[in-house]
Amino acid sequence: MRRMVVFVVVGVVVVSVALGLGLGLGLTIGRRSGGIKDTFLKRCQKFKDLNCQNVWDAFQRAYINRDPCTVTTDAYDPFIEAVSFKPQCNRVLFWSKTKEVAHSFTQKRDCLVTLEDTPLGAMVDGLTWCGKKGSNETFSSGCPEYSACENNPMRSYWNRASAALADAACGDVSVMLSGSIQTPFDPESIFATIEVTRLHSPRVRRLNVVLVMEKNAVTNCENKSLKNLQNVLDAGIGYGCKEVTRDQIDKCSSDPEIACGACW
Ligand SMILES: *[C@@H]1O[C@H](CO)[C@@H](O)[C@H](O)[C@H]1NC(C)=O
Ligand SMILES: *[C@@H]1O[C@H](CO)[C@@H](O)[C@H](O)[C@H]1NC(C)=O
Repeated sequence: MRRMVVFVVVGVVVVSVALGLGLGLGLTIGRRSGGIKDTFLKRCQKFKDLNCQNVWDAFQRAYINRDPCTVTTDAYDPFIEAVSFKPQCNRVLFWSKTKEVAHSFTQKRDCLVTLEDTPLGAMVDGLTWCGKKGSNETFSSGCPEYSACENNPMRSYWNRASAALADAACGDVSVMLSGSIQTPFDPESIFATIEVTRLHSPRVRRLNVVLVMEKNAVTNCENKSLKNLQNVLDAGIGYGCKEVTRDQIDKCSSDPEIACGACW
């Protein structure tokens, strides 16, 4: 009799622990898959004029319940529409192989914005996401590698968002390119294949290249790839290139006394 009571008590304890663990795991998994949505909405809230629930709904509609290699750039059109991004005159900064330095500048100075500072890029910068056929969930692991297939949810997203920023760019446009690589204007880059091709005169007046010169610089504004950039630019868009040291950029980033226009 006594022994039976002990068994029952032990049994209850074991079942409770198992249930607790199961619930705990379930919650953890649930929280993990809800993670991107929470992050998305939290970042979205910083942009006061957005209806974040609508923006999220439009975003996830692009890839949800689809084979993750069949998400085209057009699938994000409703998302772009929901963001209704306004023209950005004299303040767009593109970057190619200079993400860190470009962001170190725009995080401190608000005269220029990169894609990741705008609602087009901010909500998902640094995140991984995809859907799966037969599920309404957003997954943040087990997604195809960026290069695994052309029409993957993240690649299509960044291509579409980059195009939208280029469409909104007007007046003077800037780009930070790297002086530390052989070909600062890489014909395969998003900047070359998507952004440059969408800059048109007279909406865009001028393209200013800031060639970032670190200590290991290997090239300068005379590089042939930059001549190619000038050649592919829409006729009527002015062009300039300046070699600017990393020190100079950092100094300007942290000194609000220096007018942005005088940074380079
Ligand atoms: C996914 O969502 C759609 C529309 O909201 C619904 O009709 C469908 O049953 C859902 N599918 C699954 C697998 O939950
Ligand atoms: C400059 O650009 C060309 C391609 O346009 C490239 O092949 C070359 O290596 C570059 N030169 C230097 C010194 O970086």
